Amino acid sequence: MAKAVLGVIGGSGVYDLPGLEDVREERVASPWGEPSDALRFGRIGATEVVFLARHGRGHRLSPSGIDYRANIDALKRAGVTDLVSVSACGSFRQELYPGLFVLVDQFVDRTVSRASSFFGNGCVAHVSMAHPVGPALQARIAAAAEAEEIAFRKGGTYVCMEGPQFSSYAESKSYKAQNYDVIGMTNMPEAKLAREAEITYATIAMVTDFDCWHPEHDAVDVAAVVAVARANAAKVARLVARLARDFPAEHEPCPARSDRALDGAVMTPPEY
Ligand code: ADE
Repeated sequence: MAKAVLGVIGGSGVYDLPGLEDVREERVASPWGEPSDALRFGRIGATEVVFLARHGRGHRLSPSGIDYRANIDALKRAGVTDLVSVSACGSFRQELYPGLFVLVDQFVDRTVSRASSFFGNGCVAHVSMAHPVGPALQARIAAAAEAEEIAFRKGGTYVCMEGPQFSSYAESKSYKAQNYDVIGMTNMPEAKLAREAEITYATIAMVTDFDCWHPEHDAVDVAAVVAVARANAAKVARLVARLARDFPAEHEPCPARSDRALDGAVMTPPEY
């Protein structure tokens, strides 16, 4: 069985992973393009951890400007088997309040201008996205949050918009009416690409705001998002540290078969 290597992608407000030991930085080249930043390799307890700042240090890359293929490819080359995405998000529910972590299990892709597959003409593959989040990895995140007494909610649907502008009032109301739970700008195509790369993926969606549907809250702005995300960074570090310390040495087979996603998914026969 493969050795487990835990990858962490830090989103808005999470540009580093305090607690990572024996840190070594390396720019991993990818034929798909330029990863957002150097990978930071290290260890927490006995677990190897690889960290990547999704927007780059200094938050230079907008959601549409990130090369998601290069990021996932670089993490795959680094040996990552299990990937935790830490992502700021807006909320469509009163009970999902700023500061809460939502362990989403579904995504809706509303992005329009991103390369979202490693496959294309020449080699065609169709992986299943029915269950985009690895349930065992998510359960480990939930157990770590419980152990650290960090408030979280398990389950939910994350709608991924293109951005970079926030939603209009009509869009926000329609997402809420469709029963989506949270909104962000980055988890698609990340989750799709992780699946194609047979990396188990799970998201910690950190609620930073109520988007703009909420009658008692101002429309979302960057200052509010950044303030909550920064305040959450220490909680994220604690949660990831606990997750890593309790992580199994060997990658455990994923019940959603994320680690065998390409079995039976490739349409193009090898002789072509
Ligand atoms: N990231 C954080 N808050 C957001 C929101 N309201 N919409 C989209 N992305 C977000």
